[in-house]
Amino acid sequence: MNNRIKQLIAIKSICVSVLVTVSACSSLRNTVINLEAETAYIQNQLECTLSDIPNDKRNIPRSVLEDGRSWKYVSYQDWTSGFWSGELWYAYELSGQAKWKEQAERFTKELKPLAYEPVIDHDLGFQVFNSFGNAFRLTGEESYRRVVLAAADSLATLFNPKVGTILSWPRSVPNMEWPQHNTIIDNMINLELLFWASKNGGADSLYTIAVSHAKTTMANHFRNDYSSYHAVVYDKETGRRIKQVTHQGFADNSMWARGQSWAIYGYTMVYRETKDPVFLDFAQKVTDVYLDRLPKDLVPYWDFDDPKIPNAPRDASAAAVVASALFELCQYVPAEKGAVYRKKAELMLASLAEHYHADGNSAILGQVTGHYPNGTEINTSINYGDYYYMEALLRYKNLWK
Ligand code: GLY
Repeated sequence: MNNRIKQLIAIKSICVSVLVTVSACSSLRNTVINLEAETAYIQNQLECTLSDIPNDKRNIPRSVLEDGRSWKYVSYQDWTSGFWSGELWYAYELSGQAKWKEQAERFTKELKPLAYEPVIDHDLGFQVFNSFGNAFRLTGEESYRRVVLAAADSLATLFNPKVGTILSWPRSVPNMEWPQHNTIIDNMINLELLFWASKNGGADSLYTIAVSHAKTTMANHFRNDYSSYHAVVYDKETGRRIKQVTHQGFADNSMWARGQSWAIYGYTMVYRETKDPVFLDFAQKVTDVYLDRLPKDLVPYWDFDDPKIPNAPRDASAAAVVASALFELCQYVPAEKGAVYRKKAELMLASLAEHYHADGNSAILGQVTGHYPNGTEINTSINYGDYYYMEALLRYKNLWK
């Protein structure tokens, strides 16, 4: 057995022993999250992942493959590329250990071309804000700020003033009637890049674009019960709404779990940035329909309307996104409702810690579903689940300070 294989086996045994210790530490009955144990578990998993990174331009761990053990690696151009460096920045923030900053810097730098190459879709926000945005927040280094500003200007070129939203996918995607204008609910998250840039040296128009997108989406993307359509197609010349459909959900009229989580997170963030009470009211409405329909352990099935429930896969990433959002939303609403949201968020974290750790690989969470209709990344681990789980833990930690 060569030394490299021996080293990998040793690392994998460390992964398993920490995992067992942590499972014993958490309990759904006791909703206090064991932050120290979770931080140790997360660092151990990240160490394991780092030890396997290939020396290749595809070196960003995106999701765990069907063998349940190995990572699928992608290049900086993949839509999920910013979550990995974001995880490393959060590891630095959670642990205070400089080694994570070094790794975060290494992977963040790889993404720099994204801000200067022609924009290929709305995901530029996920890619650059989670990497360079966190980098600037935690280091204050000017070079990071400049990249975020360049990315915001680039994302803004996708805005269509006749519609009032950003074009999410500037290419032919099935059912989107290309070259008409499409907007997906996921796009709400990427408004944060524009708001931030408008307040940190970028143009005022970035703020106006973000507000227009949020308002237009509020008017066109939701059913009467405030559950979200995944995608809306608009006439690119007149702005008329053509249709409301799904791409990643079970059906056009179903509530796709991660789509609703993007709405909850998105409108909470838009309220933070605008302080417009219309958005606060809306954030609560899109949250309440989601909370009302959750299963007992607070981790949704991938789509709330899949008729195969309870024999349908979960989406732990949606639970992580919502937990993170609720730790913020609970601070904006009246105390009584805030206490309910906060308790729910704590229970979600406790549930994820107790039942949804990754199993047999070096990711953090398992049972994440990426694109069910496509048959890809179902019931596995995906880097955005891990990213929002770490963010939720940090927000939880900061609330207790
Ligand atoms: N398109 C981003 C997602 O899968 O949620």
